[in-house]
Amino acid sequence: MKKVLITGASGFIGSFMVEEALRRNYDVYAGIRKSSSTIYLTDTRIKLVELDFSDVEVLREKLNKLPYFDYIIHNAGLTKGLKKQDYFTSNYEYTKNFIAVLISLNRIPKKFIYMSSLAAFGPGDPLLLQAVKVSDRPQPVTSYGESKLASENFITSLLNFPYIIIRPTAVYGPREKDLLTVFKLINSNLELFVGFKKQHLTFVYVSDLITAVFLAMESTIINRGYFVSDGHVYDGKMFGNSIKMQLQKKTLRLHLPVVFVRLIAILSEATKYIRRKQPVLNLEKIKELESTNWKCDIQPLLDDLNFKPEYNLDRGIQETTAWYRKEKWLK
Ligand SMILES: NC(=O)c1ccc[n+]([C@@H]2O[C@H](COP(=O)([O-])OP(=O)(O)OC[C@H]3O[C@@H](n4cnc5c(N)ncnc54)[C@H](OP(=O)(O)O)[C@@H]3O)[C@@H](O)[C@H]2O)c1
Repeated sequence: MKKVLITGASGFIGSFMVEEALRRNYDVYAGIRKSSSTIYLTDTRIKLVELDFSDVEVLREKLNKLPYFDYIIHNAGLTKGLKKQDYFTSNYEYTKNFIAVLISLNRIPKKFIYMSSLAAFGPGDPLLLQAVKVSDRPQPVTSYGESKLASENFITSLLNFPYIIIRPTAVYGPREKDLLTVFKLINSNLELFVGFKKQHLTFVYVSDLITAVFLAMESTIINRGYFVSDGHVYDGKMFGNSIKMQLQKKTLRLHLPVVFVRLIAILSEATKYIRRKQPVLNLEKIKELESTNWKCDIQPLLDDLNFKPEYNLDRGIQETTAWYRKEKWLK
């Protein structure tokens, strides 16, 4: 039985990775923090492992007591930090620490999958409207994206370190809490748009992303990076339209000028240090929302790994809505 360590196993995407790894008969080690919720990690076959990436010595001792992992999916990542340094600490420094310990213990896996993001490359050109490609020069527009890119650059600079970098676009599905805000707004008959420019958006349903990750992990290919989306491009209204169809709601559509939304973000961010939490609408998010071209080229994923996304937005939103309703996250 091959052993796989999945970090960030307590999160939205990580919890589904753990389920898929079990389904594929791996011996599954779920990397979590002391504070992590284990609500989705209750299967008795899962071996929970507390990993503290901040302390190299503690991490070394911990990993030394664990078996060799054939595969490691480093999925842990900070998506909403209070300040720029937080992203760099969690996403870059901790990745560096983790890999340094693996190398020093001679525990380099057969493949190290790094969960990056389309944000590491940033949006595509807003005028040419071409999809972002691996050969493009990365131009992240957020600290989050910069921190992911810094990790990518570190990983790709290593010698004899077999990696695959996965760069998903926006991921949605059951258990996801940020886009849930959009579902809730629409459920209250309201749709908000930032700015007035036409947007070109991409999405991937969580189970398709998980398929892509395992295809990449189980293939013989190493040392490549892949963007992941469902292969379609959607305009700014289509995500909402799909939700409206599922919820059978009519909405009032409000287009808010970017400056106004930025002001709201500044005001909501003002409370973040008291609440110790970054609000869903924050200044980093605005940079993403006001970017108009989030197309990405998934052709290499189709060619190399025969990836066949099963979910378009309508099908994915249908399943997501059903799950939100079942779990009473949506009334
Ligand atoms: N969701 C998307 O649309 C999307 C798109 C592109 C890429 N990604 C990437 O996919 C990965 C998973 O994201 P997600 O959407 O599932 O987010 P999530 O639900 O917030 O999960 C993040 C996971 O990372 C863990 N984590 C965060 N900071 C950590 C730290 N400093 N040390 C150890 N563990 C830490 C969290 O642990 P706790 O549970 O203890 O907080 C959680 O298990 C991330 O790397 C993210 O950047 C996500």
